Amino acid sequence: MDFTVAIDGPAASGKGTLAVRLGQAFGLPVLDTGKLYRAVGVTVAAAGGDARDAQAAEAAARRLDLDQIAALDLEGPTAGELASQAAVHAGVREALFDMQRRFALRPGGAILDGRDIGTVILPEAGVKLFVTASPEVRARRRWRQLSQRDPGLAYETVLADIHLRDARDSHRAAAPLRAAPDAVLLDTTDLDIEHAFDAARRIVETARDRWVRPS
Ligand code: CDP
Repeated sequence: MDFTVAIDGPAASGKGTLAVRLGQAFGLPVLDTGKLYRAVGVTVAAAGGDARDAQAAEAAARRLDLDQIAALDLEGPTAGELASQAAVHAGVREALFDMQRRFALRPGGAILDGRDIGTVILPEAGVKLFVTASPEVRARRRWRQLSQRDPGLAYETVLADIHLRDARDSHRAAAPLRAAPDAVLLDTTDLDIEHAFDAARRIVETARDRWVRPS
């Protein structure tokens, strides 16, 4: 296995942006694993089903094809909420496991971001980052992003969604959101994206320089 980077953290912590920027800086492909769960939730809902239904969600996860995901509209709070509902089911997580491992094990290495990358998908990652920020700061960032598409959206609605998702993601039985014991914590509450990226880049660089390929 080549050098891999695992990035986890709650909604709107900045992990997605950091993953993309790190991918550019280190020349590594990036998998936003949230997209897989979003695609499952959106696919179930589009077929008239309920993402809270374990069987329907698992069936959609088993049929999921990475190449088809690009064609789906996965942005926005509805897709995020559906993703979080679908992500609760152990069968869904299991169905998406191999796809994520295959991406991570490609020659040359990779970056994956999500909720359980350092704990479940890639426990042997070359470096693990756990990116956080206060719920209020995360809600402000997400609101700024979403209100461009939906000018009527209230900040309070976004904050409530963040609290709901944090609670569901952290308290579920299957692969709850938590930092791996060996993850480096990066709190971006008081950091803009440039400073957060600088910090993340340094962490990854140091880890890469010290990394020893597993025998
Ligand atoms: O961008 P944001 O952080 O809001 O969401 P996302 O990363 O696209 O993930 C959406 C939802 O998918 C999360 O709230 C989690 O419930 C779920 N998810 C997960 O359980 N495990 C992952 N590796 C990635 C996402």
